[in-house]
This record gives sequence, C-alpha cells and structure tokens, in this order.
Amino acid sequence: MSIDYNNLEKVSAEPYASSMIETFRAIGYNLETAVADIIDNSISANAKNIWFNSEWRGNDSIITILDDGYGMNNDELVQAMRPGAKNPLETRTEKDLGRFGLGLKTASFSQCRKLILLSKKVNCAPVYWIWDLDYVNQTGRWELIRHPISNDYIHALDEQTSGTLVMWTQLDRIVPPNTQTDNELAKERFLSQMDKIKQHIAMTFHRFIEEKSVKIHCWGREVTAWNPFLANETATQTLSEDPIGKEATIKGYVLPHKSRIPEHVYKNAEGINGWVNMQGFYVYRGKRLMLAGDWLGMFKPEEHYKLVRIQIDLSNSLDSDWQIDIKKSVARPPLKFREQIKSYAKTVRSRGVEVFRHRGKILTTKNKQEFQPLWIEKKQGNKYLFIVNRKHLVIEEIKKLVKIESEKAIEYLLRFVEETMPTKSVFIRESEHNEIAKAFEINSEVLKATIKMIVTTQKESGKSIEQIKTLLLHMEPFDNFPELIETMEDL
Ligand SMILES: Nc1ncnc2c1ncn2[C@@H]1O[C@H](COP(=O)(O)OP(=O)(O)OP(=O)(O)O)[C@@H](O)[C@H]1O
Ligand SMILES: [Mg+2]
Repeated sequence: MSIDYNNLEKVSAEPYASSMIETFRAIGYNLETAVADIIDNSISANAKNIWFNSEWRGNDSIITILDDGYGMNNDELVQAMRPGAKNPLETRTEKDLGRFGLGLKTASFSQCRKLILLSKKVNCAPVYWIWDLDYVNQTGRWELIRHPISNDYIHALDEQTSGTLVMWTQLDRIVPPNTQTDNELAKERFLSQMDKIKQHIAMTFHRFIEEKSVKIHCWGREVTAWNPFLANETATQTLSEDPIGKEATIKGYVLPHKSRIPEHVYKNAEGINGWVNMQGFYVYRGKRLMLAGDWLGMFKPEEHYKLVRIQIDLSNSLDSDWQIDIKKSVARPPLKFREQIKSYAKTVRSRGVEVFRHRGKILTTKNKQEFQPLWIEKKQGNKYLFIVNRKHLVIEEIKKLVKIESEKAIEYLLRFVEETMPTKSVFIRESEHNEIAKAFEINSEVLKATIKMIVTTQKESGKSIEQIKTLLLHMEPFDNFPELIETMEDL
C-alpha cells in the first residue's frame, strides 16, 4: 500500500553545504583513481584526445585534464557541477562510463579545494564555473562562483571546435599548505606522484588506447597501452571465454614463464604492483579497467599463481548487481555467480601453476616435441604422490649403463634424483593443505623386497634377527614402518 505523503507532518533536514561538501573529500580516492574518474567523463563525452598536464608551482601547483569531446553549454555545465547530476537508477548508454552523477565532484575534491570547469560546445562560446570549497565553507551555500582565471586557460579550447577543461588548483592533498616553489623535496614528491598517474592511465584505459578510439597524452607525450594479458605472446595460454549470466563474460590467461619471453617484456608485464600482486581477476566495465589483479576475496595472492590473470567484462547495466562504487574501484560478483567464477578460476589457476613449475612445459605449436618431466605428480585418493618418470630418456640410458658400469650408473641416478627433487611442487600442494603420500604407503612390494634383501645379507654376515630388527628400526625409510619390521619373519 502506498503512503499518502500530503497529510503528514514534516520538518526540513537539508544537508549543511559546508560539512557535506567536505565529506565528499573522504570517499577514498587516491590521485590516480581521481584522475581516471575525470578521464571517464572525457571518454563518455566521445573525446578522441585527452591531455593530462601538471605544473609544479609549490602551493599554486595545478593539474589539468583537457579533452576534445562534445563539451557543454552553460546550463549543461552547471548541471555537470551539481552533486547528483544524474540519478544512479537512470539507464545509461552502453559507452557511458558514469553512473552516480558525482564523480567529477568527488574525484576533484579528493585532491583539491578548487575545481574549475571550462567547456565549449560546437558553435558556442566557452563557459566556466568554479566550485570553491572555501567559499562553500564560509557561506554554507551550494553555489558555484566565477572569478577571473588566467587567459592561458580561457583560451585553452580555442584550437578546438568543442571540448572540456577540468582544472584542479589548491591541491592541498598533494602539496601541503605553505609549500614554496623552491622546496625540492616537495617537488620531488609531487613529480613522483605524477609519474604513477601515467602508469595508471596506461593500464586503466589500455583497451581504448589499443583500439585507437582515444589518444591520451601526459605532458604532451602519448601514453602507450599496458595490456595485462600479454595476449600477443605465442607462449601465453588463452582459455575459453564463458558467459556469466547475461552481459558479462570471463576469460582466463596464463602468462608465459619467465624463460619464454624476452626479459624486458617480462619486466614490463609485472605492472604497477609486481607479479605476485597483479595476479587474479581484472574486472572491466565497458572496457574500462576497474579492478586490476584482485581475487575478489576468493583466494589469496601466492607466488605460484602469479602467472594467472583472468578478464571479467561487465556491461554498465550490471552496476547494481555487481555493487559498483562511486570510484569504480569495487565490484562484488552476485552470489549466484560466485561458484561459477570460482570454479573457472580454479581451472585457470591449475594451468597457471603447471606453467610456473614446469617452466612453460606447453611448447609452442611449431615444436611438437613432447615434454619429458622427470617427476610426475599423481593423485591417489585425496593424497598426492611424486614419482620418477621411468620413461625419461636419462633413466633409460642409466638402465643401459648399469650393465656396463653399474657404480657410475647408480651415482648418476642418485645425483639426478637429488638435483631434481620436486620441492616446489610439493610445497605448492602442501600449502593448499593437500597430503603428500609416500610411494611405499601406496605400494609396499619394493619395501618388503628391500627388507628381505637386507635381512638375507645381514644374516649371512652373522647378525641375529633381533640385531637386524634394531638396525632397520634405526634406518630411513624403514623406521617409518615398525609393524612391518616386527612381523618381517612372515615376509
Ligand atoms: N568532460 C566532459 N565532457 C562533457 N560532459 C561532461 C564532462 N564531464 C562531465 N560531464 C557531464 O557532467 C555529468 C556529471 O559528471 P560526473 O562525473 O559528476 O557524473 P557521471 O559521470 O554522470 O557519473 P559518475 O558519478 O559515475 O562519474 C556527466 O554525466 C556529463 O553529462
Ligand atoms: Mg563521471
């Protein structure tokens, strides 16, 4: 039953502009995610070029993001500056990267106290308005202001038929108040933060850059894409693309082992956080990367899964199902798809661990030679067993050598086993809480035969049965099988 609001008692509880607008600062952006949010708007406005710039001037340092998108007229610009410019429930076009009608404001205020928005629509004069946090604080009014700005900026759009300039000044979160221009330490900190932005852009917007739908320039230089999947490397394994319900897909990649790609490619592929931290899901929303290397709470990052990267593509119609946040840096798969995603990830992870251990045993198709592992991992019940591959060429050659130079052959065999013990694989299995079986536990025939052999030779050398038992109980691996030794007369 719907409520009739007309006859109800009411009292106003409007937000205080001053405290509300300061609260916008605390949404949790960092500099890179804030800049990416502004770039989202430029891409949604169909920009073909986006220019990121920063200028160090101590306290008066400035960050600008200029685009050649369709721009805004005065009314549209005021609307764009309004917090909650659009209803999150509104249907957006497929290419629109926005959702909440907030990003421009929240991203900007997270970094600066003054946001200047200047825009020009085709055949219109440029217009600008300013959000000044100090003004809002002092007056408590939700009002934009306009004071003169440098001619350089007024003319920033002169060369273009349309476009938008976002300007951040009073960057109090990046440059502490009262910082002089000649403060070298502060300058260095500022520049190193700017450097991270470029990498973040190269990653976040790599698909737009790759398909050439947009060029992004940082300080005048075009940014090249950083693709997390090394999809062009022949040694990369690509798994099938599966649908996750409607309008979402998942596609796994196992990146090549270090030994299979040039060193600089391997180094570059480690990305902004290093190989181990860049494993996991890469969640895209309309081709824009939101999450880079995150197991979505399903697994922990581990060394041996570092080659696994899984692409998830979402359409913006799924924003509420996947609980996308304002910063576009959180996504939670709906409960009904979690198991499917987890089981897909498990398949990719097991392929990934194979490549990690066997140095990319999957050879390129050019080379049909089959890979010869020395150790083979077998699953027996719920335990894992590691056995030496009897068909390995070296083992076969050693068998031949036994007939000619037995001592040398045995020494070779032992050295081979010592040198190649599959410690890494055992470690991986154990860290996954698997039990490692010993071959003797599965098949004790050889164990029994060896005991028999020792008993016979020791008896011949004059030892009593009791003495032999004591000897065996103090000898690996027989000390693990006391019952067998107790009853060895039955053997
Ligand atoms: N560079 C731009 N060019 C043209 N229009 C823009 C630009 N930046 C913002 N706008 C307009 O301003 C509106 C508000 O932008 P804002 O980033 O605050 O919210 P949004 O993009 O709609 O959603 P979200 O909060 O998810 O980012 C946009 O919907 C768009 O209409
Ligand atoms: Mg936006």
